[in-house]
Parts: sequence; structure tokens; C-alpha cells
Amino acid sequence: MKSYKIALIPGDGIGVPVTEAAWEVLGKAARGAGFSLEGTTFPWSCDFYERTGKMMPADGIETLRSFDAILLGAVGWPARVPDAVSLHGLLLPIRKAFVQYANIRPHRLLPGVEGPLRAGAFDILCIRENTEGEYSGAGGRVHNGTDDEVAVETSIFTRKGVERILRFGFEEARRRRGKLASVTKSNAQKHSMVFWDEVTTRLAADYPDVTVTNYHIDAMAARMVMAPESLDVVVASNLFGDILTDLGAAIQGGLGFAASANINPDRTAPSMFEPVHGSAPDIAHLGIANPIAAIWSGAMMLEHLGEPSAAAAVMAAIEAATARGIGTEPGKHRTTEITAAVLAALA
Ligand code: IPM
Ligand code: MN
Repeated sequence: MKSYKIALIPGDGIGVPVTEAAWEVLGKAARGAGFSLEGTTFPWSCDFYERTGKMMPADGIETLRSFDAILLGAVGWPARVPDAVSLHGLLLPIRKAFVQYANIRPHRLLPGVEGPLRAGAFDILCIRENTEGEYSGAGGRVHNGTDDEVAVETSIFTRKGVERILRFGFEEARRRRGKLASVTKSNAQKHSMVFWDEVTTRLAADYPDVTVTNYHIDAMAARMVMAPESLDVVVASNLFGDILTDLGAAIQGGLGFAASANINPDRTAPSMFEPVHGSAPDIAHLGIANPIAAIWSGAMMLEHLGEPSAAAAVMAAIEAATARGIGTEPGKHRTTEITAAVLAALA
């Protein structure tokens, strides 16, 4: 029987229960489809930091490298560990070290979910550059604490990095409805963003079947609210993609439904699957976190592993549950109830 090695990093707060829920559903889907998932749990988190002074051991990346995929819950508990420490100690180094350059985030309404917009029929695939740009970490501070204090944070856009994410977007657009929206701010940022637009135009020649439109980030934010049905694939830089995908989550009914996949398209290292939401310390012990975003991310993992029918079965089970009104409104059902409904629909 085919078996996949999965690294589980539940992390902090609601990351723990939603990962447990997703793992249960994925296990059942695997059994149904005739393969197995062998999970190894790593307790890397803010708890771990308080005990060891590190978010993960020094050989953490090397440990993860031998897995087929990583399923992550959420990282961060700012009251205990500064976010800049916890995220730069665990989540962000994994994305970079494993060259997970494409962060894929689907935004559409699940059946039974009422979003805040009148538009119901949108299906957007956001593709966020995930290894460089505004998240490169290049910069520094001098004259700390004085009137002359200076902070510099440099965005880094490489030809290789911009080309590969745009190419990935073009390929996805070709597989979907043939429309690519490339998002920049080239009217104000005249170096990196003009460069991005130039690469978009150059690559477009290789994809005559894809219709490309360049948008500025501000106009794209408005469009996602006013005319989300006009969008298909949206490609953006790391920070712009981060912001747009919280907006995408909002129009699809909330962060409880927003899934994501950090993909290494070349498969030279494991990819990582995680809900878009954070650890939500404020509701962490209430048992009401919506596990749907984590389960959907798990379906994306099955797809990536080459198990499309198991992935489709998980999506169908999520949709069967939400169509019955389970998990569609914040706090109405408990994590365990939503998980049970998805498991039952999978039977
Ligand atoms: C996300 C999150 C992270 C990001 C944070 C936690 C660093 O907001 O995955 O969208 O900005 O990438
Ligand atoms: Mn985010």
C-alpha cells in the first residue's frame, strides 16, 4: 500500500485543534482511497520556545526535509513571544529553505456560506510570491532609541523569483479560465514594481491563450469587493499577496474558510499546507475554531501528493457539511461538531 510521510506542526493556539481535525479527516480519506498517511508530530511552537529558547531545533529544517509534506496549524502567541521572533523562527524559514515559492490561496464561497458581498459566484485563485519581495528580511536599524534612529527594510525582487512566480500564475490561468491579473504598484514604486510589470509583459508572449491585466494593488483591493466575479488567477508579491488574501478570506465568509498551500513546484523539498488564519489566542481554549480552512488545506496536500480523488472526496465532504449549515457561521458549531459532520459526509 502506498504511504506518505507527513510532518505535523500544530503550532500554537487554535492551530492545535484544527490540525487534529484535518488529520482525522485526511486519515479517513486515505483509508477510503487505499493509501496511508504516516504522521510525525513536532511540538515546535511558542511553548517550545519558552522551554528551549528556540522555535525549532537547529536541525529542524534538515529533519523536515525527508518528509513528503508538512501540515501546519498556526504559529504565534504575541503575549508570550514577539511575533517577529516566532514567525522568523519557524514559519518563514520553512517557506524559504524549502523554496516554497508559490503560496496558493483559493477564494470562493462554500455552499451554505453567506459572504458579506452581494456577489455569490466568484472563484479566485490568489498566488502569492512566498520567498522574497517585502519579506526578504534584508535591512537593519541604527542609532536605536535615539532621535536619529533609522530603520530600513529592503524589498528584494530577483529576476529568477519574479519570473518563476509569474510563470506559475500563467500555468494556473491556462488550466482555469485563462485570465491572469498581475498586481503591483508600479505607478509609485518605480524600480521593483516596474521590473515586475516588464517581466509580466515578456512572459505573456509565451501564453497567447491567457488574457493578462495589470492592476495596482489599491485598485485590486477595490475590485475584489466590487467585482470579484471578474477575477480568475491573481498573482502578487509576498506582502501584497498577504494583504489581498485576508481580503479574499473576508469575502469568502471569513478566515475560517481560507486555505493555503506553500508549494515547491520543482519538488526539490517538501511543500507545506496551512490555513490562512493565525493562532487566535483569544479563542484558543473555547473549542469553537472552525477547522474547515485546515481541512481544505489538507485536501490541497492530497492533491499535491498525487491523490486527486481523495482530495476531491475531502472537498465534497466539506461542501456537504456546509450545505447543511454546519460550520457556516462563527461560533454556531464546535470544532468537534464540524469535524464530525465532515467525517460523516466522507463515509
Ligand atoms: C500568512 C500570515 C503570515 C504571513 C504571518 C503570520 C507571518 O499572515 O500566512 O498570511 O504574513 O505570511
Ligand atoms: Mn496573512
